[in-house]
Amino acid sequence: MNDPDQLVSNMSIMEKISLIVGAGFSKIVPGAAGETNPVERLGIPAIVLSDGPAGVRIYPLRLGVNETFYVTSFPNEILLASSWNLELVEKVGKAIGEEAREYGIDVLLAPGLNIHRTPIEGRIFEYFSEDPLLSGEMAASYVQGVQSAGVGATLKHFVAHEQETNRLIINVVVSERALREIYLRPFEIAIKKAKPWAVMAAYNKLNGVYCTQNHWLLTKVLREEWGFEGVVMTDWDAGNDPVEQVKTGVDLIMPGRDEIIRKLLNAFRNGELSEDIINKRVRNLIALITKSLKYKKYNPSNKPSYDEHARISLEAAIEGFVLLENKDALPLKSASRIALFGKGSYWTVKGGLGSGDSYPKYVVSIADGLREKGVIIDEEVERIYRNMVHRWYEYGESTQLYKSMTETALKEANSLLIELLMTHYVYMMIEYIKVMHLPEDAFPDEFLERVAERNDVALITISRISSEGFDRFPVKGDFYLRDDELSLISRISKIFHKHGKKVVVLLNVPGPVEIHSWRNLVDAILVIWLPGQEAGRAVASVLLGETSPSGKLPLTWPKDLYETPSMKLHPGVPKDNPVEVLYAEDIYVGYRYYDTFQVEPAYEFGYGLSYTKFEYDNLVIRNKDSEIEISLIVKNTGDYPGKEVVQVYVRPLRSRLNRPFQELKGFHKTKLIKPGEVEEVTIRIPLDYLASFNGKHWIVESGPYEIRIGSSSRKIKLASVIEITSDICYDTSWKRIKCN
Ligand code: GLC
Repeated sequence: MNDPDQLVSNMSIMEKISLIVGAGFSKIVPGAAGETNPVERLGIPAIVLSDGPAGVRIYPLRLGVNETFYVTSFPNEILLASSWNLELVEKVGKAIGEEAREYGIDVLLAPGLNIHRTPIEGRIFEYFSEDPLLSGEMAASYVQGVQSAGVGATLKHFVAHEQETNRLIINVVVSERALREIYLRPFEIAIKKAKPWAVMAAYNKLNGVYCTQNHWLLTKVLREEWGFEGVVMTDWDAGNDPVEQVKTGVDLIMPGRDEIIRKLLNAFRNGELSEDIINKRVRNLIALITKSLKYKKYNPSNKPSYDEHARISLEAAIEGFVLLENKDALPLKSASRIALFGKGSYWTVKGGLGSGDSYPKYVVSIADGLREKGVIIDEEVERIYRNMVHRWYEYGESTQLYKSMTETALKEANSLLIELLMTHYVYMMIEYIKVMHLPEDAFPDEFLERVAERNDVALITISRISSEGFDRFPVKGDFYLRDDELSLISRISKIFHKHGKKVVVLLNVPGPVEIHSWRNLVDAILVIWLPGQEAGRAVASVLLGETSPSGKLPLTWPKDLYETPSMKLHPGVPKDNPVEVLYAEDIYVGYRYYDTFQVEPAYEFGYGLSYTKFEYDNLVIRNKDSEIEISLIVKNTGDYPGKEVVQVYVRPLRSRLNRPFQELKGFHKTKLIKPGEVEEVTIRIPLDYLASFNGKHWIVESGPYEIRIGSSSRKIKLASVIEITSDICYDTSWKRIKCN
C-alpha cells in the first residue's frame, strides 16, 4: 500500500465514511465484538476487534464447523495487579495477544484501567487498582505484552467510567485535579510507556459532555497534550451524536450501524462535517490497518499454544493470591484430609461476566486441583454439595430453561443456533448466580462433629460473581455474607476448633466482601479473586506450600462498605435511577482517603502475608536532578523461599496544596529469594511523579518529603527525608514552565 496520504486522497467520501463506521459484530471471527468495513478496491482489509482482558472472547463453537475455538481463561486484572509483577503481567498480555493472533483478531479490546473507586463496581474485576500508578504501570506492561504478538491493544474506558449503574447516560462530575491525578493518570502512563494502538472512549458523560463527544478529552488532552497517535473508538453504541463524535475526536464508531453512515454522509453534504476532519480520522484508521495482521496477510492457525498459555495462566493466578490471615494454618501438609465446604469449592468462579468473560475448555475447580495433588477430600461432604446442585439441575428451574432453549435451538437449526449457544453462556451466567445462592448451612452440628473428627482441616470457599452492566449489590449475598454463609463459618469454626483442627477460608470474589465481622473466627484467609481456568491448581500450589503467597492488595479492603468515601454518593442522584454522580471525594480515593483521614480499613492497600519473612536494610537515597534513586536490600529471614513487593510511598511533610498523606510512587517485585538470601533493589522515581495538579498546571512543591519504604502502605520498614529546594512546574504536556 502506498503512503496513507496518497491512499486517503484516492478514496471516495463514501469509502472514507464506511471506514469510520464499524461493520457490526464480526462475521470473520464469530463471537468477536467488532469488525471494520474493507475497501477492497484499494486493498484495505476488514480488521477484527475482540474482547477481553481475561482472554480472547469468541464463540467456542461455530455452526457447521466441527472444530472448536476455546480460549485460555486467564486471571482477571484485579488478580494480575495483586501480583505487583510487571514482567508477569507482560507475559500474560503476550499470551493473550498470541491467542488473539491465532484466532484472527487484529485488535484486542483490553486492558480496562478505570479506578477502583468503590468496592462494588460491577467491573472491578476487569480493572487493576484504586491507585493510578499501579494501574498505569500494569496496563503498560499488559499492552507491551499484547502488542509484542502483533495484535493491537485498546485502553478502556476513557475516562471516569467507575460504575455500571446507568453507565450509558450517567454524567460524572469530577474536578480537573482529580481527573488528572487519579482518573486520567493511568491512561497517560500507559500511553507514554506502551503506545497502545487504540483507546476506547467511555459511555458516560464527563462534566456534562459524553466522553465520545468531548473535544477537551479526545483532542486537547489525549492528542495535543499527550501526543497519542493511535485510533480512538467509541464504546459499543456509546453517545448520541455520531457527527459530534467524529468532529470532537472519534476515528471509529463501533459497532457501527447503517443509519450512522447516512447521518455522517448528510453532515458532510450539508457542510457540518468537513472533509478535512474526515481525512484526519481516516488517516488514523489507515495507520492502524496497515499495522494489522490482516493487512500483513497473516494466516491464523486457530490452534493457539494452549498448554503454554495454561502454564502462564496458572503462574499468574498463583502470584496474585493475597494471604490476609494465617494463624499457623498454612501451608497444609500434602497428605491432609480436607473437609471442603462452599459451592465454589466444586464450581469455582473463574471470571466475571459480560464482555470481560472468556470461554475456556475447562475450569479446574478447587476440589479437582487439590485431588490432583493427592489431597483426600471428604466424600460425604462432597456428595452433599453435588446432590444439592444436582437436585437443582434435575429439578430446579434450570432444567426447564435449558430444555426449552435447547429445543428451540434444535428446532431452528440455523444461524440463530449460534446466538442460542451464546445464550447458553448467558444461561451459564444464570446458573452461576443461582448456584451461588443455594443455602450453605445444610449440615447439622452432629454431622459436622463427625466430619471434624475424621479430617485434618476445614476449607470453606465463599464465591461471588459480578458482571458488566450491573454494579455489585450492598446486600447479603453480595458484598455482605448471607446468614447461611456466616452460620456455616461460625459453626464449622466452633466444632473444628473443639477438635483442635484449623479452618481456612478462600475468597473467590471479584472484589472485597465484608470480612471484619467474621475474620477472627477462622485461622487463615486467602483471597483467590477470579483466578481463571487453572483456579484449583493455583489454590493447591499455594495451600500445599509449593509456592508461598506473594500477592498484595491493589485496593483498600474496608471494614464496612460505607466507610468508603465514594459510597456516600454512589451510584448518583436520583438514587433509584441516577443521571449524575459527583466524585465528591475528589483525589481522596482509596488509601489516599483512609491514610489522610486516619480511618482504619480491614486490610490496607498493599497488604499481603507470606509464608516467610523479609527484612529491609541499607537504604540509600540519591536525590538526582530528574529522579530520586532508592536502593536497599531485602533479606529473607524466614524458612520459606518467597517473593516480596517493595513499595515506595512519598509523603509531603509540608505543602501549600491539600495533598494526600502519602502516595505510591514506585514499587518492585523481587525474584524468588531463598531463606537467608538477599536481593539488592533499586527503584527510580522520576521527579515529576511528585507533582500535584493545582488547577492550572503541575507543580512539585519545594520542601521536605518523607520517602517511605514499606511492605504495605501502613507497614513502613525504612524511611528517609529528602528536600526539594525550589518549586518545579510543568504544563499539562509536562514541559517545564516558570512557576508563577
Ligand atoms: C461493551 C463494553 C466494552 C467492550 C465492548 C465490546 O459494552 O463496555 O468494554 O469492549 O462493549 O464488547
